[in-house]
Amino acid sequence: MVKSSTTYICQQCGYKAPQYLGKCPQCDSWNSFVETIEKSQGVKESKSQRLEKAEIINLSNIKKTEFNRLSTGLGEFDRVMGGGVVLGSLVLVSGDPGIGKSTLLTQLALNVNHESRSMNTGKKENHDSLFKIHNSNVLYVAGEESAQQIKIRVDRINTKADLAVLNETDVDAIIEAISQARPSLAIVDSIQTLETGDLNSVAGSVGQVRESAHRLQRLAKDLHIPIFLVGHVNKDGMIAGPKTLEHMVDVVLSLEGDSTSNFRILRGSKNRFGPTDEVGVFEMEEKGMIEVKNPSKIFLEQKVSAPGSAIVATLNGIRPILVEIQALVTKSFLPMPRRVGSGIDNNRLQLLTAVLMKRMGLSLFDKDIFVNATGGLKVFEPAADLGICLAIISSIQDKIITPKTVFMGEVGLLGEVRQVRGMEKRIAEAKKLGFSKIISPENAKNLAQAVRLALVL
Ligand code: TYD
Ligand code: MG
Repeated sequence: MVKSSTTYICQQCGYKAPQYLGKCPQCDSWNSFVETIEKSQGVKESKSQRLEKAEIINLSNIKKTEFNRLSTGLGEFDRVMGGGVVLGSLVLVSGDPGIGKSTLLTQLALNVNHESRSMNTGKKENHDSLFKIHNSNVLYVAGEESAQQIKIRVDRINTKADLAVLNETDVDAIIEAISQARPSLAIVDSIQTLETGDLNSVAGSVGQVRESAHRLQRLAKDLHIPIFLVGHVNKDGMIAGPKTLEHMVDVVLSLEGDSTSNFRILRGSKNRFGPTDEVGVFEMEEKGMIEVKNPSKIFLEQKVSAPGSAIVATLNGIRPILVEIQALVTKSFLPMPRRVGSGIDNNRLQLLTAVLMKRMGLSLFDKDIFVNATGGLKVFEPAADLGICLAIISSIQDKIITPKTVFMGEVGLLGEVRQVRGMEKRIAEAKKLGFSKIISPENAKNLAQAVRLALVL
């Protein structure tokens, strides 16, 4: 057997030390050491052993190129995954604490459980399982909460449902349990609570998180079981955030939303088996997350006609969603006026403010500007530029934008309005929702033209 020992390695320059160091003596970076398992030099494999292990495959010999997928029973979730969960994939679900990761995954577990049980009853009959999950095809590994707490959540979502829960944080014990029980799906909540006895650092440290994910990745591939990892987004510190894992997993999903709204957006930022940029929209209710099939309609439900409000047509993956942008421009009493964007890119807001000052002659140097994308959807597309600019102009001039108007277009540094991708899809969605006036590069070549078309005088 290959014996292993641990070393601390500087992540910046690769310097090795036998114990944790706060500052690297070689490159002077701080807090850069991560505990890593090192195979000892003593027991080296022979050349023939290594050759035996290495297998070269001709792609033409692989017959099936289609992935086997498992439906989660949640249409919005399946779409973000690219049509279901690929068997054997490792999926990271990240998000702020309290955003609803455990709720969403519990619902998913109950769905998969229900469906796979009705599909192949008795599948586990001949499997000699040490773990009693005969009534469940999903294993929920709870490192953070007790089984009682999970029961409270399950009861809230669906009182009749059952689910197999494993209260464990030792990743090797978890791997053993999954190998024995062979569930159709395993959920690990959360990766930051896992640890292996092979490392000395505490659970949640970069070394532990990375090693645990690595071992689960191998397990998922070996057994063809999809594994979901929950990862909290954390402020910098000893607890390793999901960033550490992004390169190791197959799919990265993030659950977003702001604290003031019930909407939750599930976004895929990496997907080895499907599209990225897709979004799924949910609403957090008393009985769990409800899928929102027509997000534009719901995002615009509370819209009031007032100065500072503009509707933009965004495109997420292949799905158009209309969002209201609100702007408030007020006199500033600060030497450095504030430009605060929520749900939009702050750097973009700075740039658009500069364009408005230079090209439209607006005096914004003594004004605070607040811009908000309502509903909790993050609008980082340049296609929203025109709407953001018009919302700001509408607020500063205290004039409303003509009702039933929607904006799409990127604003260049010269104040020109530029083409964006997927115009037809955006226009179709706007028309479907009853918008009659579309302001885009087709009818507004620059900001001044857009203002003439949009504002009610
Ligand atoms: P949770 O899934 O525990 O968040 P996370 O795992 O991301 O930390 O959900 C947290 C919030 O969701 C909590 O404030 C309670 C609320 N909630 C509902 O509104 N409805 C529900 O059905 C459930 C189960 C939770
Ligand atoms: Mg949780």
